[in-house]
Amino acid sequence: PVLVVDFGAQYAQLIARRVREANVYSEIVPHTASVADLLAKDPAAIILSGGPSSVYAAGAPFVDPALFEAGVPVLGICYGFQAMAAALGGIVAQTGQREYGGTAVEVTQAGTVLAGSPDAQTVWMSHGDAVHAAPEGFEVLATSSGSPVAAFEDRTRRLFGVQWHPEVKHSPLGQKALENFLYEGAGLAPDWNPGNVVAEQVERIRAQVGSARVVCGLSGGVDSSVAAALVQKAVGDQLTCVFVDHGLLRSGEAEQVEKDFVAATGVQLVVVDAKDRFLRALAGHTDPETKRKIIGREFIRVFEDAAREIVEGSDESVEFLVQGTLYPDVVESGGGEGAANIKSHHNVGGLPDDLQFQLVEPLRTLFKDEVRAVGLELGVPEAIVWRQPFPGPGLGIRIIGEVTAERLDILRAADVIAREELTRAGLDRDIWQCPVVLLADVRSVGVQGDGRTYGHPVVLRPVSSEDAMTADWTRLPYDVLAVISTRITNEVPEVNRVVLDVTSKPPGTIEWE
Ligand code: XMP
Repeated sequence: PVLVVDFGAQYAQLIARRVREANVYSEIVPHTASVADLLAKDPAAIILSGGPSSVYAAGAPFVDPALFEAGVPVLGICYGFQAMAAALGGIVAQTGQREYGGTAVEVTQAGTVLAGSPDAQTVWMSHGDAVHAAPEGFEVLATSSGSPVAAFEDRTRRLFGVQWHPEVKHSPLGQKALENFLYEGAGLAPDWNPGNVVAEQVERIRAQVGSARVVCGLSGGVDSSVAAALVQKAVGDQLTCVFVDHGLLRSGEAEQVEKDFVAATGVQLVVVDAKDRFLRALAGHTDPETKRKIIGREFIRVFEDAAREIVEGSDESVEFLVQGTLYPDVVESGGGEGAANIKSHHNVGGLPDDLQFQLVEPLRTLFKDEVRAVGLELGVPEAIVWRQPFPGPGLGIRIIGEVTAERLDILRAADVIAREELTRAGLDRDIWQCPVVLLADVRSVGVQGDGRTYGHPVVLRPVSSEDAMTADWTRLPYDVLAVISTRITNEVPEVNRVVLDVTSKPPGTIEWE
């Protein structure tokens, strides 16, 4: 793999993704890994990421100069560039001039990484220190007003560095620079793609589970669906999927799982109709945290019973549970197997100890967009592959107030109209998600035909986001909003008002509860 050494900023995952977009497989390693640790992974190339420190600050992450003697091509980015310069005897100093944002650089010599670049270009910078003198053996390729040495290379030793962030889209030629490093600098072929993962994972899953039984909880979301489809391809009917229908899904979603997904993949599916059980448990509760806890608790109980029944029918001693853990979860929990396992256990809500499952996590090396590509490759229905994020507690936290069967029907009717119109307007890929929220305890006066109505408002909450950590409200076209509003108030008799949520996150969360 290409190893991306993470110096502690947000950028390492982005770099790893861009490398994969260049069709070269990459993995992230913490900066605390020793040179021996890195070399043990037999890296084809190494990229040192940016980071928040100053190389001369006490306790700043350090790059062992031995790394540069190993014969592995290395690209330093921002902090990684400065750390490389410092480790090899260059001069890094405070310029007194912080460069932040779009910055003009002058390319004095294209070299390897900047081949095909114009002499003047705009790049994305974010740094306080700067490299003043390149180490011996390096040629300077670019300068900017705040960075006397903004890029350098030592072609003989295959060491390269740029002060800016080629991985962000605000560096228009950044992807080209990364590809130059990978293809020309490191001599790698662009032969990896998410589809390759299928064959490799199928082998791994077979080796891991042997002839044992495997269970998987299907939620209707992309991660659990693609994980299940992969395991199905690997071990066929040794896998049984469990779909707990808690009655809090949106219109059409249960059918997507029960009919379309099964038809497309051939998985054995156990459907547990737990709608009444969830409604009974939720009756009388209005507090959001209480509702979330009830839904989580009931889910575990129902899933556990179903899983136990499947396991009891078999005589194998080792049983497995499929989890749709993704690479960002693995990286964020430290990358170690142990840490990631604890976190993924939490994803199913903490299964009890007497259910001794081992985990099968076939997506743990993949980013979300790659999971989608794998899903398409496996024939998972597009409606599932492209499904927008939907919370585990479902519509239960989109009804503000008590959850009842009647209120669920009202919300489902309004929600499906909003989704239909957003799809019709071609906006599905432009928005992150658009919760529709029923203000069930609020009533407002309206007039329809000749009569006064006294109905409920629904809220449209369209948001744009990269990762759901922050979000902005999406400026949907007024005519699309108008159609949604007209249709909902005409077609859903209990709703006589549609309002738009224009709050970013922070301060608002995406969901209302
Ligand atoms: P908030 O409302 O915290 O939501 O801004 C951030 C993202 O997470 C989703 N969400 C959940 N997903 N279980 C989930 O699997 C949950 O309990 C849950 N709560 C919120 C939400 O839809 C948004 O994408």
